[in-house]
Amino acid sequence: MKRILSAIMLISVLALASCGMESKSDIDKKVDELLSKMTLHEKVGQMNQLSGGAWLVDQAAKGEVGSILNCVDPAEINAVQKAAVEQSRLGIPILVSRDVIHGFRTIFPIPIGQAATFDPAIVEKGAHIAAVEATASGVRWTFSPMLDIARDPRWGRVAEGSGEDPYLDALMGVAMVKGYQGDDLSDPTSMAACIKHFVGYGAAEGGRDYNTTMISERSLRNTYFPAFKAAAEAGAATLMTSFNEIDGIPSTGNKWLLKDILRDEWGWDGMVVTDWNSAGEMIAHGFSRDLKHTAEQAINAGVDMDMMSYGFIQYVEELVKEGKVSEKEIDRAVRNILKLKFELGLFEHPYVDETASAKVDYAPEHLEAAKQCAIESAVLIKNNGVLPLAGAKTILVTGPLADAPHEQMGTWAFDGQKEHTLTPLAALRQEYDVIWEPGLDYSRDKDRSDFAKVRIAASRADAAVVFVGEEAILSGEAHSLSKLNLQGAQSELIAEVAKSGKPVVVVVIAGRPLTIERDLANCDAMLYSFHPGTMGGPALADLIKGKAVPSGKLPMTFLRDAGQAPFYYNHNNSGRPCNGTETLLDDIPMAAGQTSLGCTSYYLDTGYGPLFPFGYGLSYTSFEYGKPVVENAELGRDDVLRVSFDLKNTGKYEGTEVAQLYVQDKVGSVVRPVRELKRFERVNLAPGESRKVTFELPVAELAFWNFDMEYVVEPGDFRLWVAGDSASGTPIDFVVK
Ligand code: GLC
Repeated sequence: MKRILSAIMLISVLALASCGMESKSDIDKKVDELLSKMTLHEKVGQMNQLSGGAWLVDQAAKGEVGSILNCVDPAEINAVQKAAVEQSRLGIPILVSRDVIHGFRTIFPIPIGQAATFDPAIVEKGAHIAAVEATASGVRWTFSPMLDIARDPRWGRVAEGSGEDPYLDALMGVAMVKGYQGDDLSDPTSMAACIKHFVGYGAAEGGRDYNTTMISERSLRNTYFPAFKAAAEAGAATLMTSFNEIDGIPSTGNKWLLKDILRDEWGWDGMVVTDWNSAGEMIAHGFSRDLKHTAEQAINAGVDMDMMSYGFIQYVEELVKEGKVSEKEIDRAVRNILKLKFELGLFEHPYVDETASAKVDYAPEHLEAAKQCAIESAVLIKNNGVLPLAGAKTILVTGPLADAPHEQMGTWAFDGQKEHTLTPLAALRQEYDVIWEPGLDYSRDKDRSDFAKVRIAASRADAAVVFVGEEAILSGEAHSLSKLNLQGAQSELIAEVAKSGKPVVVVVIAGRPLTIERDLANCDAMLYSFHPGTMGGPALADLIKGKAVPSGKLPMTFLRDAGQAPFYYNHNNSGRPCNGTETLLDDIPMAAGQTSLGCTSYYLDTGYGPLFPFGYGLSYTSFEYGKPVVENAELGRDDVLRVSFDLKNTGKYEGTEVAQLYVQDKVGSVVRPVRELKRFERVNLAPGESRKVTFELPVAELAFWNFDMEYVVEPGDFRLWVAGDSASGTPIDFVVK
């Protein structure tokens, strides 16, 4: 047997060598050899990441910079790289990084919009395109995908993630990792991914960024870890620690997270970088005495690279001499950094071709992919038949987001150039006679003095399309909101247009789910487009015209009121779930005596339910779900649940439905969510076409971390739904023995 194994090993090493990919052991040997030559100062230099370009040349020449971020000028990158490679003693190349979050030059929809596609393939394609463009400028490491589960739209960073569901989050995260990294990190168009922010950052109390999180180990394991584990297993090269503390322990100093879980339990061997000064922020947290203490804690917890705290470069040599940090820990960190640099091929090819980016930026095929992604990311949340505006000839286009090329790109779009953005106004002018009256100049604009012009223009049009939403700056990092209504006088603008009596289509272009219930009442149709990026205009114009049909589904619950947050579909039931008989505020009699008014978990003023549930989205056509048939309603732990159903397009447009499979574990050793998404499939059907769809779900995927903190499938009664959103479908029972 041993002979066979060694033969297989030899063959695989030879095969790797023949196709240019170095085997893992080859790289390990090179890392060990280089490490053995390094002084402690040089080792610490590799652990130091700084923001900037040319001003870092001197430090690079001394071998004191392991990585730079926020420089995307190829010539400047080459200058810093030249100093490191040709002047420092060992010539170790610098790792160039950037937040390439949803595109580099060609900007795709913001990640929450990409999640709304429920299409991992198009997300992977977008990530690959981002890597092609970013690497052409010299960037070989991106701080993406963000995998933070988000259940509170007050948190501005919901824009950057994939929403509230662990399963969707995992699929989107894996798609991005594959898109950025490809099959071979040494390919010059590959970029190392960085799964972030580990962990629980989106659970900030009050939806207020950077705030405390109180997450039990069981919730971490059942809700917040899965996407990170899936992306780690998919080969994510790096991971970023989060700013927040969990139950009093900042993630950047949390050994349980960074060693016990990541390394010992998951066996992940990538590189760990802090968030921007998140090591230094442990002083403010009250977890560290001073900057030197932060470096000691972060390294001993398992951090490899320090982003912009300057703590490592200043104090680690002292800490080693004082015995507070072992050189073994330093070697572990530097080994992870050097391994990545070898895997990326930086030692062989440290420089970027300064002519390359002009050949790939905004390539037609990139723009086409961005347009398709924007089309699939739009969610139709209301339509009384007005859309598509096929018959209209003259339309009024109004609203502050109709012609806002910078805002349309959304948050974290540093390198997108607004000159390349095609806006809805420009695109609609290709399809209709357009009367353009902005009405408001920006999303927070309260000045209604132009409303009269809008009203007059509406009277001359066959229909009106109102583009409202958020400027890009109103979502993203550090941009939490306590209220989620449309800013400024946008709602009033919609109401003003509605007075015309003409068909009104509202298009929301925003970075998060907003509370738009009152706006729904003033329009005939509403398309929700999470900042759609460079090609958002043509995408929305095609949807409005009917050249494309909406297929997006909500990756987050939409609230009636911000006061309902946090609210998510996959919640526990509580002991007093709503039953629909609750008494609302206006129904309470005067001088009401002390009474329970229902005694269930709801709000007197807002009631209980969301405005729209997770997974919701309409089409121009309609779909009918046949009764699901469960092949085997009594299953063993090693079995596969198979459920089939006919899906029919009962309307007059070809369309794509995202069919979803939800499961509930009805009784557990700990309470279980009322529903959990376990599968979904995009099904494209012509008018009248019907297709049999089958979902296969191994029973093993019903496992969870139970009362004894074991990851097991507990036998018992389960329930499943097949539906077009998380609040629909007829439950079907099945049993796991
Ligand atoms: C920021 C963000 C992080 C980003 C990093 C580098 O503060 O939290 O997501 O990757 O700094 O820009």
